[in-house]
Amino acid sequence: MVNSPVLSTQVPTDLEAFWMPFTANRQFKTQPRLLVSAQGMYYTSHDQRQILDGTAGLWCVNAGHCRPEIVSAITEQAATLDFGPTFQMGHPGPFHLAHRLAQLTPPGLDYVFFTNSGSEAVDTALKMALAYHRQRGEGSRVRLIGRERGYHGVGFGGISVGGIAPNRKFFGSLLTGVDHLPHTHNLEQNAFSLGIPAWGAHLADELEKIVALHDASTIAAVIVEPVAGSTGVLIPPQGYLQRLRDICDRHGILLIFDEVITGFGRLGTAFAADYFGVAPDLMTVAKGLTNGAIPMGAVFARDRIYQTFMDSPTAGIEFFHGYTYSGHPLACAAAEATLNLYERDGIFHQAQAMAPFWQEAIHSLKGSPHVVDLRNLGLVAGIELASRPGQPGQRGFDCFQACYAQGLLIRVTGDIIALSPPLIINKSQIEQIVSTISDVLKTLD
Ligand SMILES: Cc1ncc(COP(=O)(O)O)c(C=O)c1O
Repeated sequence: MVNSPVLSTQVPTDLEAFWMPFTANRQFKTQPRLLVSAQGMYYTSHDQRQILDGTAGLWCVNAGHCRPEIVSAITEQAATLDFGPTFQMGHPGPFHLAHRLAQLTPPGLDYVFFTNSGSEAVDTALKMALAYHRQRGEGSRVRLIGRERGYHGVGFGGISVGGIAPNRKFFGSLLTGVDHLPHTHNLEQNAFSLGIPAWGAHLADELEKIVALHDASTIAAVIVEPVAGSTGVLIPPQGYLQRLRDICDRHGILLIFDEVITGFGRLGTAFAADYFGVAPDLMTVAKGLTNGAIPMGAVFARDRIYQTFMDSPTAGIEFFHGYTYSGHPLACAAAEATLNLYERDGIFHQAQAMAPFWQEAIHSLKGSPHVVDLRNLGLVAGIELASRPGQPGQRGFDCFQACYAQGLLIRVTGDIIALSPPLIINKSQIEQIVSTISDVLKTLD
């Protein structure tokens, strides 16, 4: 081993130079929250406290932290083949991994394009959709449809189809030709639903109105998260995704599921597509693909989409797109080791088995101060708090800070707490999450 210090355990004396992503930099740097190591369900903070991970990092560490099998796979790969190009060259990793993933995906989604993040996967999928239609002689299909409150990462494609105002408004005119479906969140109809809410399938019919306005011949694809995570855990109403599927089929529009957070067991099945029994044409994943250990994303494409490119009458490169690190050897090794763990330990099944206990525990918070909704599916939960008048997001942020002080990492988006623990969580850890939040809510004004 090279004699180098593990930088992540040394607390820095100067926090200034790192421009932190999606962070209130000024607030953070006066009151830092640093994580210096991790094991299983826990982080260790820079002040040597154990912090229960209620968010699987950022929805990615599904098998728990620092699993030795993943660590050694990465280490061995780094010493064997550190990098190999995948443009007009190859190495075994991504071929093995793609073959294996194709066994796990819903039938017909058998082709895998590798990226390094969810954002890149989304932009790749949008480009595939546009190029696919053009390739088959329907180049007029250029419009993309997203949804209000959708989050599809931070590339220009992703923010254009995404539906979060602050992520869009600073960045110019974005992609043209994008429309948005309405979101499905409705507290009057669905507050405190257990699992899938009953009301709202008809909101999918808004797609028919968009089609009527623009004509199907101009629309390439619709992209949605099956369960919207980043805007506060919005669970699709009963029948909603199937209706979107039916409308897309009727009009030759591709349906893209962004499964960056729902992929790899979050709902107790490999993908949300399996959970809901609705298969998309393109599916984006990242995060749980490598258990968060090395950055990697992917797009799964339906056979006919891949074949359309392969049937091109022009010889040579079929799709002018890719990243230097597409199918990086270390990421492939991490993903293989992660899939081994998921399989060997039955981790998706563990999540499924724990989901009823999770639901009951989350809904025990009904009646706690400030709580206006509780929602759950698989091992995801949203706890919506009433906003303080004139101060949206402040109560949520106070809650986040207080939970962290009490040894629990949660994620808040505005005044909504989003929980997504590693899928290996046990009952007493679930009780710890709920009791910490319950205690903290009592202290918040
Ligand atoms: C649904 C969805 N899509 C895309 C992304 C972007 O992924 P990344 O941050 O890896 O670019 C995220 C990240 O949270 C996500 O939740």
